[in-house]
Amino acid sequence: MHKNYFRSYRGITPILGNAVYVDETAVLVGDITLGDDTSIWPLVAARGDVNKITIGARTNIQDGTVLHVTRKSAGNPNGNPLVIGDDVTVGHKCMLHGCALGDRILVGMGAIIMDGAIVEDDVFIGAGSLVPPNKTLKSGYLYVGNPVKQSRELKESEANFLKQSAINYVELKAEYLADSN
Ligand SMILES: CC(C)(COP(=O)(O)OP(=O)(O)OC[C@H]1O[C@@H](n2cnc3c(N)ncnc32)[C@H](O)[C@@H]1OP(=O)(O)O)[C@@H](O)C(=O)NCCC(=O)NCCS
Repeated sequence: MHKNYFRSYRGITPILGNAVYVDETAVLVGDITLGDDTSIWPLVAARGDVNKITIGARTNIQDGTVLHVTRKSAGNPNGNPLVIGDDVTVGHKCMLHGCALGDRILVGMGAIIMDGAIVEDDVFIGAGSLVPPNKTLKSGYLYVGNPVKQSRELKESEANFLKQSAINYVELKAEYLADSN
């Protein structure tokens, strides 16, 4: 992997699972773990310096998204790591900061998720939404708005799309990996 976009911080270097795709314009720094078949698209900036970033399997982080964390402090002894589960789609130009996401989630384009927020499994977040600090988004619902509000239960087609979107991106990154060999 090219050293300019894959950097260590205090001796800790990102760890990649099998068949991971990282675009060469993305920047990954420090304590970051990526699960198998995950993909990181152009101009993603992920900085695991003052805390760690963990991303599960088959998750895609799309173009221009920023991932960061919050340091440990007296009032917040663990700080806020960033945890993203399996089969998650993070759309273009999102900001995920020190929050925890479960599995099979779609984060719409341009959404912002702030420190301490928890997104349970099987949630759809509309484009441009803002999830305030420490808010929990419940499994099985669509959320939209700034600040985000629970909109309605997910339709079956939308719940299926959460899984399909992850599959689509696993297939797409396989093509990119094949092209880069
Ligand atoms: C929210 C979303 C799922 C649509 O949900 P929906 O229930 O079908 O919504 P509708 O299109 O029927 O619109 C219902 C209302 O929500 C509003 N709305 C739609 N998307 C919205 C959004 N992201 N934020 C705020 N309001 C939104 C509509 O304007 C409409 O308002 P109105 O009733 O006052 O006219 C969709 O607009 C969206 O944001 N998808 C995310 C797409 C994305 O970013 N994908 C990732 C790219 S890879």
